[in-house]
Amino acid sequence: MKASAIANANIALVKYWGKRNKELILPNNTSISMTADGLYAHTTVEFDKKYKEDIFVLNGRELREGSREYDEYIGLFLKVVREKTKEEDRVKIVSNNNFPTAAGLASSAAGFAALATAFNKALNLDLDKKDLSILARRGSGSATRSIFGGFVEWKKGEKKDGSDSYAEQIASLTYWPDFRMIACITSKKQKKISSRAGMARTVATSPMYKSWLLGIEQDIEKVKKGILKRDFTLVGRTSEENCLKMHATMITTQPAIIYWNKSTIETIQSVIDWRNKGLECYFTIDAGPQVKIMCLEKNVDSIIKRCKKLEGVKDVIVIKPGEGAKITNEHLF
Ligand code: PMV
Repeated sequence: MKASAIANANIALVKYWGKRNKELILPNNTSISMTADGLYAHTTVEFDKKYKEDIFVLNGRELREGSREYDEYIGLFLKVVREKTKEEDRVKIVSNNNFPTAAGLASSAAGFAALATAFNKALNLDLDKKDLSILARRGSGSATRSIFGGFVEWKKGEKKDGSDSYAEQIASLTYWPDFRMIACITSKKQKKISSRAGMARTVATSPMYKSWLLGIEQDIEKVKKGILKRDFTLVGRTSEENCLKMHATMITTQPAIIYWNKSTIETIQSVIDWRNKGLECYFTIDAGPQVKIMCLEKNVDSIIKRCKKLEGVKDVIVIKPGEGAKITNEHLF
């Protein structure tokens, strides 16, 4: 009843923003991401009668029932798993991320993909990757995609029960090995508005949300085609535009949601400037202040050098396409 798993985070090229069903975590739009090598969650779970209550330790800190972080995420997920499996034993979960949690680096994607994978083994659920992506989805939408490696599409699906809302691989990590993202960390603080709350507020109040949805299918087609043809310009340009459209819906939400800081903007403007001068790169930003710069491997050194000169950039992480979630024999307790 004990199992461990490792799952990488992912960074969306076409973003998921907004749900059609909050309980089942069904999105309003299809999305595409790259699984991020080296930004991972390592999770161990154990179901056992010796535990009198569920225990959840995230990055060395115990989160308890009754706290927002516990109840809104892990608590709900455990309910889903218990309903599905009828498992009555309590569980101990220990999970570590090797990158800043909840600051716009998709920590929940890595966390829930690892957790679903570990539960699958510990409870002998025998789910295939498609069903595993559906289970991970119930923890956090973006986790749906982290089950797979390389470039991944999460189909929004049409069905009410969510059985057709799962992820599929578009191309493996070896298909486009020189695609890179350079994450510029501009703040290590936990964000104030979770993506869950942020997207709900956007759907409810942004006058631009309708037009966000209207443009999605085109962006999906372009990015998918770009990945399959390894057309960096098409993928980079479309992803950057898609990110700005998502942020336009956030900014026009009431009250406004602005995840950017001064250094986020400085980095964006620098990317545009470098590109105008012939260094091809594009940016993307999620629900946080970090800027992820898309480029090809041949330009990584030159871009890192420039990023390190930017005043507010605290850390720079180079990310390659990574593998999907997997079981490990290394237990954390
Ligand atoms: O799965 P969540 O609730 O962490 O939402 C992720 C939302 C974005 O990161 C902004 C976009 C995405 O598709 O990953």
